[in-house]
Amino acid sequence: MTDRIVIARPDDWHVHLRDGAMLDAVAPYTARQFARAIVMPNLVPPVTTAAAASAYRDRIRKAAGPGFEPLMTVYLTDGIDPDELERGYAEGVWVAAKLYPAHATTNSAHGVTDIAKIKAGLARMQKIGMKLLIHGEVTDKAVDIFDREKTFIDRVMAPLRRDFPGLKIVFEHITTKEAAEFVLAQKADTAATITPHHLIIDRNSIFEGGVRPHLYCLPIAKRAIHRDALRKAATSGDARFFLGTDTAPHTVETKEAACGCAGIFNAPAALEAYVQVFDEEKALDKFEAFASLNGPAFYGLPVNKEKIALSRAANAIPDRVAAAGTGVVAFLGGKTIPWRFDGPV
Ligand code: NCD
Ligand code: ZN
Repeated sequence: MTDRIVIARPDDWHVHLRDGAMLDAVAPYTARQFARAIVMPNLVPPVTTAAAASAYRDRIRKAAGPGFEPLMTVYLTDGIDPDELERGYAEGVWVAAKLYPAHATTNSAHGVTDIAKIKAGLARMQKIGMKLLIHGEVTDKAVDIFDREKTFIDRVMAPLRRDFPGLKIVFEHITTKEAAEFVLAQKADTAATITPHHLIIDRNSIFEGGVRPHLYCLPIAKRAIHRDALRKAATSGDARFFLGTDTAPHTVETKEAACGCAGIFNAPAALEAYVQVFDEEKALDKFEAFASLNGPAFYGLPVNKEKIALSRAANAIPDRVAAAGTGVVAFLGGKTIPWRFDGPV
């Protein structure tokens, strides 16, 4: 039995770090485990200009401390200016653009209402090699919440893939068997991130003994067959799947409410949660590819030189962390899990 693994320092290819006091509280958790992270732009107001992204990056560097590199993204809006996309990319301010269908999730009111309205921007991104990160859910209220990702593939993702064959696309935080199959049917220019929570919970977990607001996120967790398909994809070693936690902190008050926010804060024990899954799937030998190699290869970045270790050891995850004058409940908080992050070696 393997009791300790040493791997190249991982990166997190999808995080929400927020701003202000919340940023100060949560950024150190991500920086503790990851060398780099792709930072989502869904602030209020969203990050839509190179100037705003650059200023936000400065605030993140300050909150996270040395040794952590935020990789910025720009939030796509209807009619976005292709020149601004190219300017931010050429100046090294951002590496990718994020497509939120309008009203699909937290702070997405300014998102894209129709792909036709960003065609010029997408054509420019394809030309310059800038990546497109997609929240893949339709917003059509007539579509059942558990079917919104699957429907998005047919209505939006497949046509987009056909119309922009040279665009590098990340299908973010996939939650269905259909999404994993879609990615596998494409070439190397379509990849997907997978969160720790979608590898662990299924939709029953959200209602176990009562409603569990801290397990509510978007895209919502699906049936166990989907979770199991994600586990298979993540642990396969296939280069198109890589780590993206979608850590999305909200205060305890905004989660435990009549209309609670979507988002799971998993940064305090992200690597431990993932490695537990790889251990259960008898795929510890594939963990480094998923956590540390596949993401940099897709983004055309070097693998981190430093190494980190994880050990098999009882690890009690704190129930909540102090943040912004209140608290944020952590994923797996209050549980004891079988792996521990040992830090750099
Ligand atoms: C995210 C957030 O809170 O910003 N919420 C979530 O449930 N994942 C937004 C998102 O990524 O959908
Ligand atoms: Zn997200």
